[in-house]
Amino acid sequence: MEQNVRESWGSRIGFLMAAAGSAIGLGNIWRFPYVAGDNGGGAFLIIYLGCVFLIMLNVMMAELALGRKSQISAVGAYKRVSRRWTFVGVMGVLSGFLIMGFYPVVGGWATAYIFKSFTGLLVDPAAIAGHFEVFIENPVEPLLWMLLFLVVNVLIVVKGIKAGIEVAGKILMPLLFVLLIVISIKSMTLEGAGAGLSFLFKPDWDAVSGQTFLAAIGQAFFSLSLGMGCMVTYGSYLNKGDRLPQNAFMIVTMDTIVAILAGLALFPALFAFGMKPTEGPGLVFSVAPAIFAAMGNIGIVLSGLFFVALAIAALTSSVSLLEVVVAYMIDERGLKRKTAVVFSASIMGIMCIASSLSLGIWSHVKVLGVGAFDMFDFLTDKVFLAIGGFFTAIMVGWFMDKKALKEELNNQGETPFKLFEGWYFLIKYVIPFAIGAVAITGIRSVEETGVVVLGMGIIALLAFISKKL
Ligand code: TRP
Repeated sequence: MEQNVRESWGSRIGFLMAAAGSAIGLGNIWRFPYVAGDNGGGAFLIIYLGCVFLIMLNVMMAELALGRKSQISAVGAYKRVSRRWTFVGVMGVLSGFLIMGFYPVVGGWATAYIFKSFTGLLVDPAAIAGHFEVFIENPVEPLLWMLLFLVVNVLIVVKGIKAGIEVAGKILMPLLFVLLIVISIKSMTLEGAGAGLSFLFKPDWDAVSGQTFLAAIGQAFFSLSLGMGCMVTYGSYLNKGDRLPQNAFMIVTMDTIVAILAGLALFPALFAFGMKPTEGPGLVFSVAPAIFAAMGNIGIVLSGLFFVALAIAALTSSVSLLEVVVAYMIDERGLKRKTAVVFSASIMGIMCIASSLSLGIWSHVKVLGVGAFDMFDFLTDKVFLAIGGFFTAIMVGWFMDKKALKEELNNQGETPFKLFEGWYFLIKYVIPFAIGAVAITGIRSVEETGVVVLGMGIIALLAFISKKL
């Protein structure tokens, strides 16, 4: 029944913008710079690029092909290959909830900083970093911004694919791009900016360990919205005839350019101001306003615009996360779109309250040694996404019909995909092995062993009950 009424994207560029909108988000601008900073800069960047073009690009094609072929959202798409694989789709829906259990908190910070830019944040540059600490620990203010951010998500996703998500992506993504370029140019022309450039581009291999690889692959999955059925769901709305490999390549390239642009915007300025690259999650909220504060009045406007762009990038990503959960509830549970949106967003809202408070008044509440915010982040970024990608590659490579995959990727021969054999080889033999190797070396060197075990337990449980899901 669901097939008769299935929406599709209004235009080719509409899909591309929405998918790029999903990929480009806080992962690129908030997360990439501080993860790169924590993991040594240049060497991390090279490993990250390797992950992106060797693994993620191919996984992206696999997810899009799977989605368009089955014409159904994540859980259904996996289930149609075989009931045994249902759990991978369910893991994806669970990851959607978990990421949406902290993402809107950061989206709320970005929204708050739009207004803070205009109300005195930049007056005293020395106080900016301290302001961030105090702000996120406040038990009320960040919650209100988070709720505002979540409500906007609800409004967009209720409207559905064409009217809501696609329009938002088409208008807002180009604006973000232009803004980042302007800011990077400013940052790179500050005095002392050169040290930032060499931090970002000159690899220090001594700083590399198993953890660096795990951080890079986790970041790559997160940034490209892979490993949880998001691109499967978006692919299911794609029209027959659209070229999947080209779309995948463009999404991956745009996402990577934005991450590097974010690095170019932040690191030169960071070094110019004598700050440390290991600022952690506060990096963009401390460094960006400090850049703008050094620019006089024009800085206030640019700061406001920057946080508008960040909030918008976050929004076009979070709607895709919400859409994964909502599409599952519509396709598999028979809920109406509106009911599904309100129901899932309410649960996400409660999780976000716990996340936000875990950085302040609930900082003593820990499960297995970590608070709610870090728990949701760690479980998805370090465990579920990579394992979801691993099983997706195995399922596509070993359990789907090769000929059918080829026809999906080359549109029944209408748009030749010359590299098909190479793609197939990578998905089947190389990628599962590569993800597995990175995950095993990385997880062994990670401190949060309890959380890893918890994540594995959840996956085993889902796999065990998958036939009933
Ligand atoms: N990729 C987005 C970002 O970089 C976040 C995101 C959206 C995501 N959808 C996803 C991450 C699906 C993992 C899976 O901010």
